[in-house]
Amino acid sequence: MGMINVIINGQTVHTRKGVTILEASREAGIHIPTLCHLADITPEGACRVCVVEVEGMPRLAAACTYPVMEGMVVRTNSAIVRSARKSVVELILANHPQECQTCQRNLDCELQSLASKLGIQEVPFENKPSQFSIDDSNPFIIRDNNKCILCGRCVRVCEEIQCCNVLGMTERGSHSKVTTAFDEPAVNSSCVFCGACVSACPVGALTEKAMHDIGSPDKKVKTTCPFCGVGCNFDLNVKDDKVIGVTSNLTSAVNGRLTCVKGRFGVDYVHSPDRLTTPLIKKNGEFVEASWDEALDLVASKLSDIKDTYGGDAVASLSSARCVNEENYLMQKFMRAVIGTNNIDHCART
Ligand code: SF4
Ligand code: SF4
Ligand code: SF4
Ligand code: FES
Repeated sequence: MGMINVIINGQTVHTRKGVTILEASREAGIHIPTLCHLADITPEGACRVCVVEVEGMPRLAAACTYPVMEGMVVRTNSAIVRSARKSVVELILANHPQECQTCQRNLDCELQSLASKLGIQEVPFENKPSQFSIDDSNPFIIRDNNKCILCGRCVRVCEEIQCCNVLGMTERGSHSKVTTAFDEPAVNSSCVFCGACVSACPVGALTEKAMHDIGSPDKKVKTTCPFCGVGCNFDLNVKDDKVIGVTSNLTSAVNGRLTCVKGRFGVDYVHSPDRLTTPLIKKNGEFVEASWDEALDLVASKLSDIKDTYGGDAVASLSSARCVNEENYLMQKFMRAVIGTNNIDHCART
């Protein structure tokens, strides 16, 4: 790809032909606000928050879709640009419920943050939020289309990253909304409840049901998913020393914003009262709690007896995707070197 020079805010920027004004600006450390843009999906130019002045153009251009050209002169923060951005956000807010204080995304909302950065104190238009019904038909995700700003990020993430094509825009004008095929509740759609759309939503239109009504987390702790060997990374949301949910950690080189339904919504097992926390040994037909020493001594003596009586091939072991690689390595080493058999397999084939 050839290199070209553009002038952004008076600064000469040496960049690649074909990149957008937004990409060239970001590479040069120049901030342009966005709402519908995400770096990992196709730009759509839906929100117009990223408008910039391009010398010689009669209208403002959307920086997220407009490609740079040799010698182009761009202004990203002129009075006319700031005024247009402010009007765009004011129009979005005119159609938005005024309930930040009780919204799950309060203080973590791109619209709220942008309105604040643009100095919007009051919206000069009548507030007329939509009156869509809320879809909480499933155990995982709540869709409140009244807070939706129609940025399309969830639609594109579902289509381009998750490859599920569950969502689409329907209707026109103030009736526009994001929904599933035939406007069915999510629970009746082809949604696999991976939650990628939730991670992409800039506002409180898509939220995790488990985290509803319990306030913000005290902290987020990056961790590795315990469910399988893919090893997705995400943030555990912790409140009062309890895991209340999972959100994407976009710094993860393994999975980015993606997880499966188990990783995103299944980690609440950590606090399940049904969890086994001590070994159980069957005595007189009943399981009774035992110490680890007692349990391990029993397993060792039984394995030794079987091996001595019938040979190592009378023993087989199934290891688990829920263990780390090192544990699986140790298990096969134990079976081959200690028990003396190759009867070792993995739950992937069960
Ligand atoms: S989505 Fe954002 S702007 Fe809308 S109510 Fe929630 S916090 Fe406020
Ligand atoms: S949860 Fe996953 S599959 Fe379902 S709509 Fe969102 S991105 Fe698509
Ligand atoms: S639900 Fe969220 S991500 Fe989807 S279009 Fe609405 S605001 Fe954008
Ligand atoms: S970020 Fe460019 S139009 Fe929305």
